Amino acid sequence: MEKIVSLCKRRGFIFQGSEIYGGLAGTWDFVHLGLILKNNIKEIWWKRFVLDRKDMYGVDAAILMNQNVWKASGHVSGFSDPLVEEGKTRQFNMMFTTNVGVIEDEDSISYLRPETAQGMFVNFKNALDSFHPTIPFGLAQIGKAFRNEIAPRDFVFRAREFEQMEIEYFVKPLEWEKSFEHFREEMHAFMDDIGLDKRHIHELDVPDGERAHYSKRTIDFEFDFPFGKRELYGLAYRADFDLVQHAKASTVDLSYYDEDTKERYVPHCIEPSFGVERSVLAVLSDAYTEDEIDGEKRVYLKLKPNIAPVKVAVFPLLKNKPALVEKAREIYGNLKKEIGQVEFDDNGNIGKRYRRQDEIGTPYCVTIDFDTIEKEAGVTVRDRDSGKQERVKIEDLSRYIKV
Ligand code: GAP
Repeated sequence: MEKIVSLCKRRGFIFQGSEIYGGLAGTWDFVHLGLILKNNIKEIWWKRFVLDRKDMYGVDAAILMNQNVWKASGHVSGFSDPLVEEGKTRQFNMMFTTNVGVIEDEDSISYLRPETAQGMFVNFKNALDSFHPTIPFGLAQIGKAFRNEIAPRDFVFRAREFEQMEIEYFVKPLEWEKSFEHFREEMHAFMDDIGLDKRHIHELDVPDGERAHYSKRTIDFEFDFPFGKRELYGLAYRADFDLVQHAKASTVDLSYYDEDTKERYVPHCIEPSFGVERSVLAVLSDAYTEDEIDGEKRVYLKLKPNIAPVKVAVFPLLKNKPALVEKAREIYGNLKKEIGQVEFDDNGNIGKRYRRQDEIGTPYCVTIDFDTIEKEAGVTVRDRDSGKQERVKIEDLSRYIKV
């Protein structure tokens, strides 16, 4: 774990929040490479769960919500962890409280949302009225969540400010199991998309008495992190808990009318929930590799190319040969137009450049050498994992690089 944390800082992935002031516990800043890695994970999620489906609508709800949302959802009364002080135990509510407007009183209280989910439940009726979807359908959202965790720890694993990727999928009450199984499979497929090793993923059917207040069934997807087996994602059957609570508290009808069966009912809800930072940490834990290449020790991130922050690095063999640099710049420019996440490096010797790219998980390094220019013999493409090089024609490069 220490090696991962130090690589993240050294190579510009993740820094402690407010670091120059000694930090703020439980907050983390994602910078350039870490940010691209995180965005790649979010894009893959959005594609699988929203863009590639016909039954999903995106939401980006406000983080600040009417306090009544959190009263109805049960978070004001129940979103707490036991806190032990001077031998006594009390329940500590983990929501961050703030005041909206100029007057600080009971009515101006608001909370930083502890889950993105409620932003979707309160938009259920809007979605029905605007899109006229037929059940089953879902709302999906990626956004920040905040929890005043009593003990933030294990790097970005337990933070006070983090991102969630959540779906509220509304189903016919008697058909919840079919959708629950569907999302169980989809969650595994997503974990495969981002390159997590199946052997490190374990399902835990959370027993009665240990589930969140709204859940009738929960499967935790646990992952073998460097500090032990911990929850990565959750899949919950929230039944009609949230819609019934919000209908009662807001006095707005949140039922659905089925045109085919002429029935009116309150849909039940299946909720796949994913932490973004935990995804990044799981990906980094699985990718971190130490080995030896040509008798030299190296550290590399064996990232799946689709999530790697840099897809290709382009090098002129020597920095002081203008013809090589010029050709390398031209190839770099063309690849950048096509692939985007491409780096140019002419610092130090080739071995050092390879090590630098290995450490940030770049799958391919392209070198322009004398044969490229004098013999029109193409370029060398070096594979991150095997360290092997192949000559590839310049016109075939972008086809060869599969990312
Ligand atoms: N809406 C359901 C919900 O919020 P949860 O199990 O409390 O359920 C869902 O949280 C996911 O959010 C977790 O599986 C985890 O990936 C992520 N998560 C929760 N608390 C976190 C924290 N303090 N730091 C980082 N990620 C967290």
